[in-house]
Amino acid sequence: MTRDTWTLSSWRDKPILQQPEYPQQSELHAVESQLKGFPPLVFVDEVQALKKQLARVAEGEAFLLQGGDCAESFAEFNAVNIQDTCKVILQMAVILTFAGSCPVIKVGRLAGQFAKPRSAATEIIDGVELPSYRGDMVNDIAFNEFARTPEPQRLIQAYNQSAATLNLLRAFTKGGLADLHQVHQWNLAFVKDSPLGEKYQHLADRIGEALAFMEACGVSIQDTPTIRETTIYTSHEALLLNYEEALTRQDDITGDWYDCSAHLVWVGERTRQLDKAHIEFARGIKNPIGVKAGPTIDSDELLRLIDVLNPLNEPGRLIIIVRMGSDLIAKKLPSLIRSIQREGRAVVWSSDPMHSNTVTTSHGIKTRSFDSILAEVRNFFEIHDAEGTYAGGIHCEMTGQNVTECIGGPQAITEKELTEKYFTRCDPRLNANQALELAFLISEFLKKARVKKKPQEI
Ligand code: PEP
Ligand code: CO
Repeated sequence: MTRDTWTLSSWRDKPILQQPEYPQQSELHAVESQLKGFPPLVFVDEVQALKKQLARVAEGEAFLLQGGDCAESFAEFNAVNIQDTCKVILQMAVILTFAGSCPVIKVGRLAGQFAKPRSAATEIIDGVELPSYRGDMVNDIAFNEFARTPEPQRLIQAYNQSAATLNLLRAFTKGGLADLHQVHQWNLAFVKDSPLGEKYQHLADRIGEALAFMEACGVSIQDTPTIRETTIYTSHEALLLNYEEALTRQDDITGDWYDCSAHLVWVGERTRQLDKAHIEFARGIKNPIGVKAGPTIDSDELLRLIDVLNPLNEPGRLIIIVRMGSDLIAKKLPSLIRSIQREGRAVVWSSDPMHSNTVTTSHGIKTRSFDSILAEVRNFFEIHDAEGTYAGGIHCEMTGQNVTECIGGPQAITEKELTEKYFTRCDPRLNANQALELAFLISEFLKKARVKKKPQEI
């Protein structure tokens, strides 16, 4: 598998997993041609800017915050939901920036996160077997044959929704919402009166005072773009390669290929085999790439993946998204870190404490315990601390909606309460209170890591 054999469509010669079976291939091809003619959703210079920022993360100088829905949906597409998720991302970022005194690179699971890998190709309910729901970009969640039949036109709808989402995102982040002077306004109404809301409010007061102090000293920050604006980059799992290929464009200046469906794409736990299509596609595009590393991966496999995905050892190119589970991370992660250190590979280590901590209740509801999530994150930071490496990021499924999908946390959500506000299309997400508590916990680790780093810097 050498680099020169890569073409935009060389993934088509490899075995591929987790793809929908479209009844009409001709309709799929027509949709692909249409997508090829559509404008890119993100631009090459933005992707390059993110890569530079991620290189700083790899070097221990910044932190990566990646979060959003498990699966975006067509039905719940509205400005309020997007704005509220953005607000929680901004709140988490401000908590982390303040504690860590380092830049936080914000990446949403947004504007393209519509396709889901599934553990089974079909689902059986009351003896009826139908294709599994694979995300709104593929089929509909309703359990009937018509709804579950994959429909290529959904790729166009996903593109259009991603374009509108990006438009809002750009407006929110450049048009005033993200101004640090608004830091109090990011606290959502239902969080305000909770202990977490108050803790956040306290931090926002301190930031407000710092801004007022600087202004009083004559430092002109009203017109400072870094205070008034921010950037939330976009990301999703590169699962449907027909869509990804159609949005991959060649840069006029360098001749390199960029997947312009998102700034960052990742390869999931179920599709990261070295000899298969998803890795083949990912190795040839120049975007920052994430790769999930679950409990079955070993050092050899990870090193070979790194060889293929980042042969030039470029910092900022590759993010290892560790999702081992709270019970296995301490056993599995240290040896991976050691071999990557030994081989001198520049990667960003990020923790996804969600995907190996999913359980199903006796009533058949998928959930996660907030305690397991915190335990995995805590372990992730402690292991890096012990190994002398940098825990560079967090990858979480969260929402600005006031949901009850994960058990525990600041509101002590019980198993019984799960059904009250359970809206996710796929995996259970952290609500705003839980997301803020997680950010405060991480901020303690970041603070510690910065303090430890300082003496060496002098
Ligand atoms: C996801 O991130 O939504 C996902 C399916 O993750 P994983 O590939 O790690 O299971
Ligand atoms: Co998920």
